[in-house]
Amino acid sequence: MKNNHLKIGFGLVLILSMSMNLFGQAAGVEEKIDSLLRLMTLEEKVGQMNQYSGFWEFTGPPPKQDAAKVKYEHLKNGMVGSMLNVRGCENVRAIQELVVNESRLGIPLIFGFDVIHGHKTLSPIPLAEAASWDLEAIEKSARIAAIEASAVGINWTFGPMVDISRDARWGRVMEGAGEDPYLGAKVAVARVKGFQGDDLSAPNTIAATAKHFAAYGFVDAGREYNTVDIGTSTLFNIVLPPFKAAAEANVCAFMNAFNILNGIPATADKFLQRDILKGQWGFDGFVISDWGSGKEIVNHGFAHDLREATELAANAGSDVDMESYAYIAHLKNAVEEGQVEEAVIDDAVRRILRVKYKLGLMDDPYKYCDPSREKELLYHPDHMAAALEMATKSIVLLKNENQLLPLKKDQKKIAVIGALAADKTSPLGSWRLGSDDGTAISVLEGLSNYSTDFKYAKGPDLTEGLVHFVFELKINETDTSGFAEAIQLAKESEVVVMVLGEHGFQSGEARSRTKLDLPGLQQQLLEAVFEVNPHIVLVLMNGRPLAITWADEHVPAIVEAWQLGTQSGNAIAQVLFGAYNPSGKLPMTFPRSVGQVPIYYNHYNTGRPASETDVFWSHYIDESNKPLYPFGYGLSYTQFEYADLQIEDTNPNAIEVRVTVKNTGKMKGEEVAQLYIRDRVASVARPVKELKGFQKFALNPGEAKTLVFTLTNTELGFYDNAGKFLVEPGEFDIMVGGSSQTGLAGKLMLK
Ligand code: GLC
Repeated sequence: MKNNHLKIGFGLVLILSMSMNLFGQAAGVEEKIDSLLRLMTLEEKVGQMNQYSGFWEFTGPPPKQDAAKVKYEHLKNGMVGSMLNVRGCENVRAIQELVVNESRLGIPLIFGFDVIHGHKTLSPIPLAEAASWDLEAIEKSARIAAIEASAVGINWTFGPMVDISRDARWGRVMEGAGEDPYLGAKVAVARVKGFQGDDLSAPNTIAATAKHFAAYGFVDAGREYNTVDIGTSTLFNIVLPPFKAAAEANVCAFMNAFNILNGIPATADKFLQRDILKGQWGFDGFVISDWGSGKEIVNHGFAHDLREATELAANAGSDVDMESYAYIAHLKNAVEEGQVEEAVIDDAVRRILRVKYKLGLMDDPYKYCDPSREKELLYHPDHMAAALEMATKSIVLLKNENQLLPLKKDQKKIAVIGALAADKTSPLGSWRLGSDDGTAISVLEGLSNYSTDFKYAKGPDLTEGLVHFVFELKINETDTSGFAEAIQLAKESEVVVMVLGEHGFQSGEARSRTKLDLPGLQQQLLEAVFEVNPHIVLVLMNGRPLAITWADEHVPAIVEAWQLGTQSGNAIAQVLFGAYNPSGKLPMTFPRSVGQVPIYYNHYNTGRPASETDVFWSHYIDESNKPLYPFGYGLSYTQFEYADLQIEDTNPNAIEVRVTVKNTGKMKGEEVAQLYIRDRVASVARPVKELKGFQKFALNPGEAKTLVFTLTNTELGFYDNAGKFLVEPGEFDIMVGGSSQTGLAGKLMLK
């Protein structure tokens, strides 16, 4: 596609950037965009809507081999608006120079990357971070990720992923903030603010992307890329709130999704992208497709061919095409032949250019290409310290019988068992494309900072054969070598720390599981060790809730340590030896068995919630309805007591809820007090419980604190099936406590 117009070059773009309007004032961004649009050919406009992956990296189906040549030509001719997966200042500069110097208008590219939980220095997987319920720490974690990513030329992250999910079988639960829309919305805002900072034109802030719009976390049966078919109440009350919050936090971009939603592929969903996002919410950023989701509209049976898919996606409000090669092939013709109005193209290009102006790229395309920052900031000690703090706060204490934990500093004869205890890569978790294998502090390394009196036995391997991001992982189900040594060591020891769980690539994209047990031979190993020494501290390293029911029934102490990133081993050691008192609370329900999934706390009551007399009520004949561990649950080495719940409608627009919390134990600790409501009767049935407030705070032994929560219409209302927000008078249950299942209860009569 040769561009045979007169070459004007970046110089003009720069002049436009400094141009004055008719009134002699510095032209605003919109006026600059207007001027630029008037100069652009239709081909060049379509080019801005085209995104390619770097020549040497992909996070989706690998491109055809000759793609690199085509991409080079298109870059040179201004047929590309952004790139993803380009690594390092040098490569970013090289590609930017090609575009700025060779293409007719020289409009700079934006460089995107999946910066999900850190770039080089990795913080805990997002689900673990959400378990901290510490919004400040989460924002700081995203801030550091942006500092490191921007130091290597990246100015746009495909994060935060804000998909709510209730299904632990789905591999991408590791990437979100769990099952609740209120917590999910708060975490989404913290991450957007962390990535984008206060000034997007600064060289250490990057554009953020709320993804995947929408409902990807509700794939049928938890199977990756599967169909999504949900009711409007779930869509409006559960799925959309975190996206709306991200839009209100001025996130620069949205990414739509692979899934079909109620029969419409998300990439071609006009209702979602135009009516809701750009219409009702007034979103002024741009929407990018997911990798190849544009061409997959054909697979969904929603378009006959790529040409029709192109028209449908563009008209539905999908502004940038990631690696479908659809827009670059068909969009110009679709406009020339009238299937797509040029106004649609202009709107998309305006949105894209707006972000490029906000990032300051139109003034300085190389502002993110300072190699000195790359040298100075990656793996910076301050980032390591923040990652350690984030990791310790993300750990959830699930069980601690007879106060087996914390271990004494002078604890003798500690056995450490499990392949994951020595693993320096799995603790980094999935979605860590920018980081380096082997850079996690292992549990063994972390423990050695607190005790030298421990011996290690690996037990059986967790995996076998080649492990690579894009290939199926082979879990060891047969090779029991290592059992005898582990059992012997357990016999000789006073306490056994077992580190069990999932490989880092057993969760993440394209990693759905049909089971939620400990993979491979780990359960057998746990039971065999328990036989000879029941004084076990189980440290879980996993990317999703697991149904560890046997462990809960037998093992005295269980610590949920997720995949905590670079500082994993140090954080785990700090908690095991009591240097940090665990304060995490589960952001997602842990099931007793996979047969209960999807299982979540904010469920409806049903017409037959219980019965003492017969079997005709909502239950299983072979499993309890109760979760293994509920949403919001987490223990501490100390204890907290709740008292004096008071509910007052202080003024017509706000209800004040007060409660006093006391640390009645012997150790300083942090508590997450959670406020739940239940709207007893409404024009659309409401869940038995909904999180509508939380506060995390520290208390010294014996110290008490009175908390005040405020409930307004925002918290008390809900969306009806037409998406209308309603607040209805009537009776509400109010509960405040340390989990979704425990707390002080009161009533509110809303007038
Ligand atoms: C992947 C993911 C998406 C990611 C994109 C680019 O397939 O679905 O979350 O941002 O491709 O890597």
